[in-house]
Amino acid sequence: MNAKNSVPVARAFDVEAVRRDFPALHQQVHGHPLVYLDNAASAHKPRAVIDTITHYYSTDYSNVHRGLHYLSERCSQAYEDARGKVASFIHAKDAREIIFVRGTTEAINLVANTYGRKHVRAGDEILISALEHHSNIVPWQMLCEQTGGVLKVVPVSDAGELDLEAFEHLLSSRTRLVAVTHVSNALGTINPLRRIIDAAHAVGARVLIDGAQAVHHMPVDVQDLDCDFYAFSGHKMYGPTGIGVLYGKAALLEAMPPWQGGGEMIREVSFERSTYADIPFKFEAGTPHIVGAIGLGAAVDYISSFDRAAVARHEHELMTYATELLGSLPGLRIVGTVANKASIVSFVLDDAHPHDVGTILDRYGIAVRAGHHCTMPLMNRLCLGGTTRASFAMYNTRSEVERLVAGVGKVMEMFRR
Ligand code: ALA
Repeated sequence: MNAKNSVPVARAFDVEAVRRDFPALHQQVHGHPLVYLDNAASAHKPRAVIDTITHYYSTDYSNVHRGLHYLSERCSQAYEDARGKVASFIHAKDAREIIFVRGTTEAINLVANTYGRKHVRAGDEILISALEHHSNIVPWQMLCEQTGGVLKVVPVSDAGELDLEAFEHLLSSRTRLVAVTHVSNALGTINPLRRIIDAAHAVGARVLIDGAQAVHHMPVDVQDLDCDFYAFSGHKMYGPTGIGVLYGKAALLEAMPPWQGGGEMIREVSFERSTYADIPFKFEAGTPHIVGAIGLGAAVDYISSFDRAAVARHEHELMTYATELLGSLPGLRIVGTVANKASIVSFVLDDAHPHDVGTILDRYGIAVRAGHHCTMPLMNRLCLGGTTRASFAMYNTRSEVERLVAGVGKVMEMFRR
């Protein structure tokens, strides 16, 4: 912190220095230096996060909120500090609006099973988009099966852009909830959230944003967006696995029934009836992923220590460079070509299946994801079985992009007819 005015001083962005923070990047895979381009699936962890986890399991570890003893108090404090860090990170009004969950999937299931079950009646509509990950499709289908609700889907163009006119046309007084992704995990498309949220609110619908692919790539301000719910996962943002966040506006969370019952989420229990704790605890039944949450706080600190605009510029340059180099290879087609994209390049080859591409790249030490990326309806819409996807993090470099392109060139040689 700057002693004079308490404004945090950002660490200058230097990719080589960043790489030194991530021990897992410095290994050989099949005799080649690792090129890790599967960050949209899960990112590696900086030493600061690993050390925080080790520290809490080695010293200040205990259960939270239950004990009166020293370790429990210290651990509870660290857990609640992490909640505060996450709240500041997404500019929530109040730390009580931050619910720790297992990840984005659990966050969306929580909303479907609480807000959804309370408010969706037969004939009511839930609007999602054709870009969604299965985790933002299946919970709503399950809710519709239970309630008689109707799932409607906003179409997407061949380039991977939401049809906003169709979206506005699909909105009606029957729309209870709009659930869309911030950034597409398969194509990288960044959705125009302000327009979506304002239009949904104009018909009285609530809006849930799947921020799993966004929150670490761009600043997110939930108050400015005015979204009702925002969900994301720790493991993609350099934090631990098994921890994630549901943000919800306090008034909504307070009015929602609990989902899972158990310890910590109650005020009083008798065999006749139970009453529930205040938010956020009402939604955190059982012993939470304590050290996961504290580790997520460390990941937030790590990301926030940089000039985030410089990080975003770096990631954007990698994406643009990869798009240029890959796009110039004959027999390769980039999938997802909208102007407004983040950190993801998906592509298909005329002559090789994505699974073959992924497997062969792995032999050269290059990790990518290949397949449908848990977006089968989107792949069907684009008439594809799947794609090969390179996804970038702050620690990737231009020379890694060049290694990827050289690797794809080798795959092409092998499969040339
Ligand atoms: N949702 C993650 C991905 O896109 C797992 O790879």
